[in-house]
Amino acid sequence: MKEKIEKILAEVKSFQADSKEALEQFRIQYLSKKGTITELFTEFKQVAPEMRKEMGMRLNELKNTIQDIIDEQQAKFETKSDAKTDLDLSLPVDAMNGSRHPLSIVRNEINDIFKRLGFVVAEGPEVEDDFHVFSALNFPPDHPARDMQDTFFVTKSPDVVLRTHTSSVQVRVMEQGKLPIRIIAPGRVFRNEAISARAHCIFHQIEGLYIDKNVSFADLKQTLYHFVQEYFGEGTKVRFRPSYFPFTETSAEMDISCNICGGAGCNICKHTGWVEILGCGICDPNILKACNIDPEEYTGFAFGMGIERIAMLKYQINDLRMFFENDLRFLKQFENA
Ligand code: PHE
Repeated sequence: MKEKIEKILAEVKSFQADSKEALEQFRIQYLSKKGTITELFTEFKQVAPEMRKEMGMRLNELKNTIQDIIDEQQAKFETKSDAKTDLDLSLPVDAMNGSRHPLSIVRNEINDIFKRLGFVVAEGPEVEDDFHVFSALNFPPDHPARDMQDTFFVTKSPDVVLRTHTSSVQVRVMEQGKLPIRIIAPGRVFRNEAISARAHCIFHQIEGLYIDKNVSFADLKQTLYHFVQEYFGEGTKVRFRPSYFPFTETSAEMDISCNICGGAGCNICKHTGWVEILGCGICDPNILKACNIDPEEYTGFAFGMGIERIAMLKYQINDLRMFFENDLRFLKQFENA
């Protein structure tokens, strides 16, 4: 029996299947119920007891060798469809299987302009406390903006709210105590307003904050002027109108010449030739103090703009609700933007 096993071992080791069928034939010949190995196991029953252990081992070895040969050669005949894929499944997915939302496109473009000026992106929570949204920003306790009509309250006392503006991120960054500060903070904000073509209860803002020694209103104007030229094209005019925010003094709103009619007057600019795009101002010394920054040594400016407003002007969209409806006919228009 030993010789038989050796002989078969030599035979199978030199076996090379030249087709799938030949390999299957080989398997039947050796491993099927009526195959050689089964025969040998039957013979094995007659083996003298002192030889059993050795023969058993050799027989099992032979069986395993044959199985290995079959497994190895099988790969040669696998058709493309059942072959293992040669795609690298560990590669990160290409997240751009589709198109970006216009608000994301606009946010990224605005971020890029300010990043080139040395601003870094900062973030803060959407669910905020009263201190970061109002108190630290110099809103008196009875200020109308705290009123239930504008603010979504999560809990009352302690007041937890959905932030009504990204100015809360100014406070978060100032609290960290690292100066100078040069950040932009894009994010979602919430106000309890009736939804219409011009207003929504959820929208997006980008906040800017720059605090350093000797920062002046001239720096604010130049920074925003540069942004407008980059984003809306050279020759776009800007104008500043006096305004009021509790956390800035001096405060202003900035208009740009209407990029749709070029300033001649149309229904987007309500025939004035100008459209308002942001609020801004010099940081009120009180808010610097609230965050332990010495207003004698440091000054700063801040601005905040609505991303929807900028996107509507850039793409001439006249209904704000379009941004939130996820209508593919609308979204697909931004595929190559
Ligand atoms: N937070 C203000 C708003 O939402 C905008 C603003 C930001 C104004 C920064 C001045 C400075 O209307």
